[in-house]
Amino acid sequence: MKIIICGGYGNNNLGDDAQLLNNCILFRKNNLTDIKIISHREYIADLCGFSTISSFRNDFKNNKDNNYLLQKFSEIIYEKNISQETSKIVNEIKNSDVLFMSGSGTLNTRNCYGMLLALLPIVIALKHKKRVILSGQGFSPMNNPDLEKILVEALNQCELISIRDFEDGYNILKRIGVKENLIHIGIDDAFTLPKNKMLYNIPNNAIAINVSYYLTSNLYHVFSDLADKLVEQNYYPIFNYFYSKDKEAIEKCTTKYPIIGFDNPMSAKSFFSKCQAVIGMRYHSAILSLGAKTPVINIYINKYQKAKFDAINSKEIIVPCLDGTNITVKEIMDNLTYRNSNKINTLYENWKDKGNYAIQYLTQQSKKESSLLKLIKKRRSVRKFKKDSISQSDLLELVEAGIYAPSGSNTQCYRFKIITDKKDIEFLAKNKIKIVNNASAIILIVADLSVCSYLNTKRADIFNKLPYQDCAMAMQNICLLAEEKGIGQCIIHLSKEWWSNQLIKDYFNLKEYHELQGMILLGYPNEAINYETITHAGRPIKRKLIEDYLL
Ligand SMILES: Cc1cc2nc3c(=O)[nH]c(=O)nc-3n(C[C@H](O)[C@H](O)[C@H](O)COP(=O)(O)O)c2cc1C
Repeated sequence: MKIIICGGYGNNNLGDDAQLLNNCILFRKNNLTDIKIISHREYIADLCGFSTISSFRNDFKNNKDNNYLLQKFSEIIYEKNISQETSKIVNEIKNSDVLFMSGSGTLNTRNCYGMLLALLPIVIALKHKKRVILSGQGFSPMNNPDLEKILVEALNQCELISIRDFEDGYNILKRIGVKENLIHIGIDDAFTLPKNKMLYNIPNNAIAINVSYYLTSNLYHVFSDLADKLVEQNYYPIFNYFYSKDKEAIEKCTTKYPIIGFDNPMSAKSFFSKCQAVIGMRYHSAILSLGAKTPVINIYINKYQKAKFDAINSKEIIVPCLDGTNITVKEIMDNLTYRNSNKINTLYENWKDKGNYAIQYLTQQSKKESSLLKLIKKRRSVRKFKKDSISQSDLLELVEAGIYAPSGSNTQCYRFKIITDKKDIEFLAKNKIKIVNNASAIILIVADLSVCSYLNTKRADIFNKLPYQDCAMAMQNICLLAEEKGIGQCIIHLSKEWWSNQLIKDYFNLKEYHELQGMILLGYPNEAINYETITHAGRPIKRKLIEDYLL
């Protein structure tokens, strides 16, 4: 299974980087190694004309030029005016089986730019019928109806949307019309991997406090109070380097507590392993997957803003745990004194199985889309053909495919007439439908009712549709093999009720017990079929979701 992992990697999107790392470890554990990683920045220039995400961000921060972006977006989707770089990415997606979007904030933006960046690979993948899985996503309320439309349309075609568990994403997605059964509340797989920071000498009473960009002036007090209490208990709190824009909070924090950062995952692992515990947000699964055996205590700070402030006011900071219980700082301390205490172990065990929902889901799925299914999905009815003729051996092989079709009561009643003579084709066009003239060859399918002995029994009325079904099966076999050979095909219906039925039978010297079923127009395609937009008989040919056909 060829997987594309895509997110905002390598551009100070530390959460995204962390998810990438974490997911890669898990993929490898699951023997999924055919992976290509694509970062948003690789196609950003095409989307907006800027070469870096930050310049892009600054200019489009306030949705300044959404129309321009939306137009560029469409051009890329339809592969118009795109650079070689982006074209390579589009091809990578086309040649893959799954697009795995992992990046905590990729869809977590109110701005057009970020949303389009994240949506671009998704829409390309969906256009080319790839599986799309979203992992560890956050969602903010949208403020752009055009984007919302694209988003909902795209998300409803994804296979799974695993969203972070500490935000209101579920309700937002439901509100904008994303199908509920696609949304799963998972756990954000991210933790912060800061750059250019030296690893400290970790004292043996160290406790990591990890807050990522949730370090804001308001929330600062939660962590700061916690750190104070840890100090009272003779622990040594170390704040992990955070990705926060709140200068005031950062300043407060940096003056009061040591701050640590990592150059690479191994130093993160090494740091966590040396700590007595990690208290913070969003770290659990990441730390576990890194293999650090450090107890991890999660802090939920979500829509329960009030609870958060209550906790601060009461000076008794309560940390809600995943198992529904609360743990106080004192209890944390008590448990830390005995590192193997049950409480900590329960927490650790609880987290272990809950993270990385998306990867579990991926590995549960069939490992590869069958090549036959791909072919079946690729087949389209073609009605315009080149003049080139089809070789006799290919035509015979098509008939061979036909005779291997199943048949009711094993009558094998399908019969085939290969027609390549222009005047015969013209005759059929005249007596059925004009487009027949376009074909280079035709296979006429006839049911031989003389071998269908059930038609002479009392039960004839029960079985009299079998010959239709047998011939239809044969026709589909022929179409699929033709598709594989690059030969276009279109089935044209015939029946004994058709006005020229007898004329056609006479012309081709068919017997009275031969019943016309249809013909298959064949030829090398001379038209590009836009599966996404084409309609036939007033209906789009594009198939809907599997669920829409299930009774
Ligand atoms: C029994 C049958 C009869 C058909 N008859 C015609 C026909 O008379 N003219 C035509 O243009 N297409 C005909 N088609 C092709 C359908 O229009 C086509 O399968 C449908 O639009 C879906 O498009 P697709 O085959 O590209 O998926 C026929 C298909 C079947 C299965």
